[in-house]
Amino acid sequence: MSRSLDWYEGHIRLIDQRKLPAHHRQLDITTVDELIDAITALAVRGAPALGIAGALGVALSAARHTVSGRTDAEAVRTDADRIAQSRPTAVNLSKGVARALSALPRGADAVLAEARSLLEEDEQINRAAARHTAEYLLASTTRRPLRVLTHCNTGSLATGAWGTALGAIRDLHARGLIETVLATETRPLLQGARLTVWELQRDGIPVRLCPDGAAASALQAGDIDCVVVGADRVTRNGDVANKVSTYPLALAAARHHVPFVVVAPQSTVDETTPTGASIPIEHRGPDEVTSLGGVRTAPPGTAVYNPAFDVTPHDVISAVVSEHGVREPTVGTPGLAERLASHTTVVKDFPSPGVDFQDLAGVYRQPGLLQAAAREIVHRARGRFDAVVGIEARGFVLASVIAAEAAVPLVLARKPGRTPGKTQSARYRSEYSSDALEMPVDALGAQHTVLLVDDVLATGGTLSAARSLVEACGATVARCAVLIEIAALNGAARIAPIPVDALRSIPAHQPTAPGGEHP
Ligand code: MRU
Repeated sequence: MSRSLDWYEGHIRLIDQRKLPAHHRQLDITTVDELIDAITALAVRGAPALGIAGALGVALSAARHTVSGRTDAEAVRTDADRIAQSRPTAVNLSKGVARALSALPRGADAVLAEARSLLEEDEQINRAAARHTAEYLLASTTRRPLRVLTHCNTGSLATGAWGTALGAIRDLHARGLIETVLATETRPLLQGARLTVWELQRDGIPVRLCPDGAAASALQAGDIDCVVVGADRVTRNGDVANKVSTYPLALAAARHHVPFVVVAPQSTVDETTPTGASIPIEHRGPDEVTSLGGVRTAPPGTAVYNPAFDVTPHDVISAVVSEHGVREPTVGTPGLAERLASHTTVVKDFPSPGVDFQDLAGVYRQPGLLQAAAREIVHRARGRFDAVVGIEARGFVLASVIAAEAAVPLVLARKPGRTPGKTQSARYRSEYSSDALEMPVDALGAQHTVLLVDDVLATGGTLSAARSLVEACGATVARCAVLIEIAALNGAARIAPIPVDALRSIPAHQPTAPGGEHP
């Protein structure tokens, strides 16, 4: 049997995941009660696999409750409810049940056909999501081959086939782009140790196993290029429920500026639930925590807190990727653009007639505002740069906070005559003037991927000149970041295809000071 679960001669046949890796045994499920037992005991598990199991369970019920071509729809609906509630967190289960149930008016055969189509389409969906994820990870990281951290089991066992997060790892491995996978053991039921390591070893993908509590240290040590996990439910605002211990992993990844990517087919997205606060979290029995391998480890009567899942807020997630593509959380720091606007003063005719000067002094005077801006930029660009170039003069202010926040080197692109030693220079014309920037010739090398930082983007002349200095060193510019973009001057087009993160965009044409970018 190549799939983790299938329909076989009138019943459900699945790999009993409780027995792996010691025993590769199949379980034949012939009643709804047996299926509910298999689901609650985690013989079958993982969000997409639960969706398929739920749908096949409805097919099982419909077949059992059909006599002489007449189906007892009420009895099937009662069974469907029981199946859907057997594990409440993974939305795929109730969605799979609902999808199979939608075919009930057309009879038991139609229910089975619907359930089977869910199974059939799963692999293509997972492969598409995995491919999008692989591309996103490559665009978000600089080191090759990749050292990937993953949690729980998201492979072919947890799905119909191929896997979600593990599917992305498989995709990258096929391209020779995986150095090693760090798999968390995933307490308390050890889906990582038992299932993920088993799947990766069978595929010949290098894997190391670590206790859940060691993952943050691996991130801190700089041993991980990206974290990729699955999901049990993604809410409308992008919060994610996944196996418990995903949330601390995301926090640690954010702290160390490592991309944290969730792979979730559209069937795991629950648009009806607004935020993670409304996700029902399954709590499990005490024995899973008070004993290990059937041997009691805690004193008798120990009280236990054993949630099976946790909720990771969207602001520490780099992206959620489905078969339809990448969704990056839009909300970073709420109200940041408004705060920047309210502390920026427009000074007319400064420093010369006809120029509206965007005075950022008020932004700098606000305690914490510059740091919030820098954090937002680091969050958006995380993992995509390993050096910052700040542009004289006010680019220095933001660039230094970003470089400190991301713990990467800072290089200064200065006006002429202010940099000692051997320099290279680039002239530029902007809206009102022409000028030049200089940088030491050896400030950067081919190993560097740079975030270019300035205060304001107007015509793009300054950023383009800085870009040419970076590229003359052999380094690459990955992104640009500014506090304010004067959108009407279309400076972003001049620097394209390099993306620009602007924390605030001023749409109307407002003339800026000489240089477009400010003195
Ligand atoms: O309790 P489990 O093993 O069902 O939890 C599974 C997970 O949390 C997975 O990460 C999730 O379902 C995604 S599987 C592609």
